[in-house]
Amino acid sequence: MSDPTRIPQHVAIIMDGNGRWAEQRGRERYEGHAAGVEPVRASLRAAARRGVKYLTLYAFSTENWGRPEKEVDALMELFCQSVVNETPELIRQGVEVRMIGDRSRFSEKVQRYLEEVERRTAGGATLTLILALNYSSRSEITRAVRRIAERVEAGELAAGGITEETIDRALDTARVPDPDLIVRTSGERRLSNFLLWQASYAELYFPEVLWPDFTEEEFDRALDEYARRERRFGLVK
Ligand code: FPP
Repeated sequence: MSDPTRIPQHVAIIMDGNGRWAEQRGRERYEGHAAGVEPVRASLRAAARRGVKYLTLYAFSTENWGRPEKEVDALMELFCQSVVNETPELIRQGVEVRMIGDRSRFSEKVQRYLEEVERRTAGGATLTLILALNYSSRSEITRAVRRIAERVEAGELAAGGITEETIDRALDTARVPDPDLIVRTSGERRLSNFLLWQASYAELYFPEVLWPDFTEEEFDRALDEYARRERRFGLVK
């Protein structure tokens, strides 16, 4: 039986389709990314309204550095501008912002802007917005394994003492519950190196809509679809 009141605690979104949205309109790709900011606001509003506690957005993958320099620069500028412009509203809404991914590759300016928004929104209790920036699962897991190996080398931890919890705590998502629902827009049906460890029991949902056209109603539709699914976690009914 579907339970319309069943709300995922953590929703993660692969925001896909900005480039196609722009191309369909004969515009530059970066204009598609700029048009992707309003759906971020809409998703935050909808998530807060429905009682979702964690919203993770895949904003920039480790592979995205391979895009034309002009597009990468435009995206960096958009992240900086967005965090500066949106911070007062995020604080007002009680949104705490966190980043996952390897931020060391970003310019000092971008790192400063990201630290600033994390610092200023810390303690927001309505929901946590997690931005995946220069993120890929394999890179995150590799960094986690290195950290654990360092603890073993230092004699703080026995190899036999490594548990799933040890790994969970070494990931960028430490202390964040696993996503219950992962949404990828634009009809693509892949996880593309996103939260592979954490997605073990997530429900997956692939609406056709391109990210710039994603609205609060689309977010609600994703939650309705989630409420209809039966999650068994490997158990029987
Ligand atoms: C994927 O579409 C989208 C991105 C790589 C960038 C996502 C960034 C935003 C939505 C900007 C706003 C974000 C924040 C956090 C302020 P694509 O370019 O791969 O689309 P395509 O597959 O149609 O080419």
